[in-house]
Amino acid sequence: MAVGIFDSGIGGLTILEAVQKRLPDTPFVYFGDNAHAPYGVRTHDDIFDLTTAATQRLWDEGCDLVILACNTASAAALKRMQETWVPPHKRVLGVFVPLIEALTERQWGDNSPPREVAVKHVALFATPATVASRAFQRELAFRAIGVDVEAQPCGGVVDAIEQGDEILAEALVRSHVEALKRRMPHPEAAVLGCTHYPLMAATFQAALGADVKVFSQANLVADSLADYLHRRPEFAGPGTQSRYLTTGDPVSVSSKATQFLRKPVRFEAA
Ligand code: DGL
Repeated sequence: MAVGIFDSGIGGLTILEAVQKRLPDTPFVYFGDNAHAPYGVRTHDDIFDLTTAATQRLWDEGCDLVILACNTASAAALKRMQETWVPPHKRVLGVFVPLIEALTERQWGDNSPPREVAVKHVALFATPATVASRAFQRELAFRAIGVDVEAQPCGGVVDAIEQGDEILAEALVRSHVEALKRRMPHPEAAVLGCTHYPLMAATFQAALGADVKVFSQANLVADSLADYLHRRPEFAGPGTQSRYLTTGDPVSVSSKATQFLRKPVRFEAA
């Protein structure tokens, strides 16, 4: 009954940790495409090709359900995958919708018309590809009206995290928050729209100020996955083993993952 978790690199481990805690008896196979990270500066076609290759690898591991724990792949490739590529007996789900449901105070499956919500000024931090896709604003517009979204493409942050350079990542986060605040001085909420960014959550919160509510995805995705598997248990695939796979160098990816998660993680070659 294994479930696949995919990210371009180590960011999706923030989601994996939360889903493991929520579903302790479910084996998870993690796939980090570290050899090709960052995705956030690639074309949509490129992101589609890489994401489908990784998803196929997770299906080969017995994961009939794959979570794209990557906003960039969810924004740039998921719709096309679902429309043209995923066969009827498999599922691929993204990480956007649970977050937007939380922001707009909706339950899963509430398809009522868009309505006014409490939060009016939202700062979105994401990769350049995610920001360019406008997928966040599109999903939000289905559910809410009157929300002003200011998006900041956070160039360089994923690269710095993948290289294990925490100091550079912190400096970049501070400068991206300053840039956003010049355009939206008082956001009420901020969305960390990249699964690498929770690794920098404290820096985002400090730069934004304590009065800004920071939404990050891990627990929201975990709740949503538990709910999905409860409704559709047939999509827990036949795999039985938890594994960490990477297209990068397993030794260096394991050491970066261990540094960021502050617990030992051992990757194998994908
Ligand atoms: N963690 C991915 C995301 O959520 C990172 C994208 C990248 O590789 O640039 O968008």
